[in-house]
Amino acid sequence: MSFEELYSEIKSRLNILDLVSQYVKLKRVGKNYVGLCPFHSERTPSFTVSPDRGIFKCFGCGVAGDVITFYMKIKGLDFKQAILDLAERCGISVDESLFAQKRKEKTLAELNYKVARFYHAQLLRSEEAEKARAYLKERGISEETVRDFMLGYASSNGRILSSLLRVDAKEIKQAEELGLIRRVEDGGYIDLFRDRVMIPIFNEAGECVGFAGRTLDPKGEPKYLNSPDSQIFKKSEILYGLFQTKKQIKQKGKAYIVEGYFDLLTLWQRGLDNVVATCGTALTERHVAKLKNLAEDITLLFDGDEAGRKATLRAISLFIAQGILPNCVVLPYGEDPDSFFRSKGEVEGPPDAILASFTFNALEFIQKEYQEKVLSKPKSAFEELVELFKSCRDPFLKKRLISFLATLFDIPSQEVAKALSTGIERDEVSEEYRETVEEGLCSHPYRIIAQYLVNYPKEAQTLKEAGLLEILDDSSPYTEFIRTLLSAYDAGVDPQEILDPFFQEIYSDLFFSPPFEDERSAFEQILHFIMKERARLKIERIKECLEKGEVSFEKGNIEQYLYQIKHTLRLKSCKIT
Ligand code: CTP
Ligand code: MN
Repeated sequence: MSFEELYSEIKSRLNILDLVSQYVKLKRVGKNYVGLCPFHSERTPSFTVSPDRGIFKCFGCGVAGDVITFYMKIKGLDFKQAILDLAERCGISVDESLFAQKRKEKTLAELNYKVARFYHAQLLRSEEAEKARAYLKERGISEETVRDFMLGYASSNGRILSSLLRVDAKEIKQAEELGLIRRVEDGGYIDLFRDRVMIPIFNEAGECVGFAGRTLDPKGEPKYLNSPDSQIFKKSEILYGLFQTKKQIKQKGKAYIVEGYFDLLTLWQRGLDNVVATCGTALTERHVAKLKNLAEDITLLFDGDEAGRKATLRAISLFIAQGILPNCVVLPYGEDPDSFFRSKGEVEGPPDAILASFTFNALEFIQKEYQEKVLSKPKSAFEELVELFKSCRDPFLKKRLISFLATLFDIPSQEVAKALSTGIERDEVSEEYRETVEEGLCSHPYRIIAQYLVNYPKEAQTLKEAGLLEILDDSSPYTEFIRTLLSAYDAGVDPQEILDPFFQEIYSDLFFSPPFEDERSAFEQILHFIMKERARLKIERIKECLEKGEVSFEKGNIEQYLYQIKHTLRLKSCKIT
């Protein structure tokens, strides 16, 4: 039995009601069942299960998915482990080979772990590591923290890992795959990390998936070196520290996000133990989705400089897209969380309390940030903020954002609502604020299209023929979703059987979203949107060619461009009816 077959076998055998009922008290309401959401605290039930479709969604916190996703989330397991566990629960005998992939990932993580242990022992004991020990001491990192986070030291020798692993050819290959070593011209291997303090990175399940190495040399470049992404290490998903801090985050219902490894370590040491860090990348929506499942009260704790404030604004937008308004700490200029706390004596109180006077809610933060610009360049300030808030789908939050902008710019709410739901360029407006398909297509087109495709698979072919695939860009998670959905339809596969929890989350969410009032007009508007986008992209390409001077000014060419431009303008000006 293949992995895919196993997946659908589990789905057919395991009733979602039976599984969910073990964790949530469910009550029948019409065709669905509702209960108190196990993923966030609430008093009135908004957690909904559809036994017919085998999916769930919480209308409070937005988590959604199928029976496997539910199990993954409630147990904190990764996808494959969840499948294997559930197969056992259902009494499905699992083919030995099916464990292979999972086992390979485990082996890779084990190898990382072995290397982490080695680096750790080096830090504790090797003579060469004395300077690393001194460095950590100088930075105020205690021995206890060194142990809690298994910090280590990679020697400047550069060939030490390959000699450690040489006895086992398989391990050498795996270490290469993990980017820990790389083959050099003389046929030997050289270590990636040399003369660095090593920070092993664990996933939620406590497996060691990668490393960051900090140079000891104040002028050393790069300051941080990270393991490359691999089968087990995805920087856009992993949150550093989560393994150690998850329990406290859940317990407190609150999480801090920092951007540096040492920021996290220093905070942890000061007793602020509900914190995570990104691993050398900007925050992504996958990070946000992961955190959102653990806590709703989120505080962004970034550097007190221009870059930190920019990153804060970006992060606010990501959280707003998922219905959360975070808090933001504004540190004194030039400080990062690490330096800030090290400048504070322990006597000044617990870290939460120290931070309180530097903490603002996201709207206060934005107001401060934009204070000047609102007066000096109101139009562009307004446009920037609309851009920032536009991804908001939660109607309550949206209302709040609208009244915030209306007050800030002293303009009528209706104007703001129009701008927010339609984007700035749109000129036609509706009387009262209620999102129509047309408005949705302006502010989050791919979600609307995905929602349509989920509900009306029979039109997929037509939309594809109209050029849907050509207009998908990669700035939205829904575009990946649409591609997968379309190929499932093509292959005659039920989307429910698609082996990707991220896909299932979106699928369930869209399935529960209210259907379009008028299917036919929704279809026509989407079709129209696709045509408009195609024309827009074409013009953009022509513009690029013109700019690069790649265009030959032959009559035929020019006529073709003119024709395309004219065609697009016609489409742009034609009103949707
Ligand atoms: N980072 C990185 N690669 C670099 C520099 C930074 O991956 N070359 C990531 C690391 O995750 C680092 C974070 O960005 O922790 C923040 O970088 P920065 O503010 O420059 O460093 P600090 O965290 O202040 O580092 P330190 O305190 O060790 O100087
Ligand atoms: Mn720092």
